[in-house]
Amino acid sequence: GWTMQGFREMEIARIRAQVGEGRVICGLSGGVDSSVAAVLIHEAIGEQLTCIFVDHGLLRAGEADEVVATFRDRFNIKLIHRDASALFLDALEGVSDPEIKRKTIGRLFIEVFDEEARKLGGAEFLAQGTLYPDVIESVSFTGGPSVTIKSHHNVGGLPDKMHMQLVEPLRELFKDEVRALGRTLGIPEHIVGRHPFPGPGLAIRIPGTFTAASLDILRRADAIFLEEIRAAGLYDAIWQAFAVLLPVRSVGVMGDGRTYDQACALRAVTSTDGMTADIYPFDMAFLSRVSGRIVNEVRGINRVTYDITGKPPGTIEWE
Ligand code: XMP
Repeated sequence: GWTMQGFREMEIARIRAQVGEGRVICGLSGGVDSSVAAVLIHEAIGEQLTCIFVDHGLLRAGEADEVVATFRDRFNIKLIHRDASALFLDALEGVSDPEIKRKTIGRLFIEVFDEEARKLGGAEFLAQGTLYPDVIESVSFTGGPSVTIKSHHNVGGLPDKMHMQLVEPLRELFKDEVRALGRTLGIPEHIVGRHPFPGPGLAIRIPGTFTAASLDILRRADAIFLEEIRAAGLYDAIWQAFAVLLPVRSVGVMGDGRTYDQACALRAVTSTDGMTADIYPFDMAFLSRVSGRIVNEVRGINRVTYDITGKPPGTIEWE
């Protein structure tokens, strides 16, 4: 019968046959899909693979360092880490339209990726962690972002001008199968079990005007929420959980003083594919603990709400 071990061996043979002596470039995002693709391809062709991690500065707290530590130090994969955060944050500063945020990020991502690929002297092959659901849903491309209802499907690849052939070893798999494959490859649980995270990152969790200062506030609130979810042992029961920094100020009271700060919404859902989702039914004690910590520890937020909208009619992200 069909086993993950069997799939792994078959895919490795297929990658070797496709690539031959050629060079492969793989974009690494820190997410499950690109991580599993990179490790599998590395197992097949070793040094012929180079990963490029374009760090747009919109990841969660600590995640950029984790990507580098895992792939370069633990798996010994050739990895270019390009810290392009200043470029992305400057371009996003003051932008409020969600699709313009996505397009800006998508455009810069491609520019930076292309630049790094050229520095390497190019390659014949481009590897992507495209999954089966991406293949069937896909209308258009994005290396993060593109254009549909929300332009978020990652199929279609990087620019045509790069003239590279695609290597997509996960094309026939669903998310849970990719995770299983990742485990057989020895990828650490904190990466294999990681919640999906959008290509445009935290930028689309700041509805309204993007500023670097808001990003900083959001990142702190988000880290507290995720830390509490892990501490409560709830991480694996949830499909995605995150904070959204709202463009709303409200009055609060803190000690002897009056505050007039921003509100944040917490969102946590269960789902099997992201197409539909139910809200996660936290108990009130958990929610008040998180709320208390955020208001006390994150300057700039004085009110916390929990988003109780399913999908449909809501989407998972706010933008
Ligand atoms: P929505 O918000 O449409 O999201 O219910 C469904 C799933 O897609 C993710 N998402 C994105 N992923 N780029 C991505 O790579 C994007 O622009 C994007 N927008 C949404 C979302 O996190 C959820 O998993």
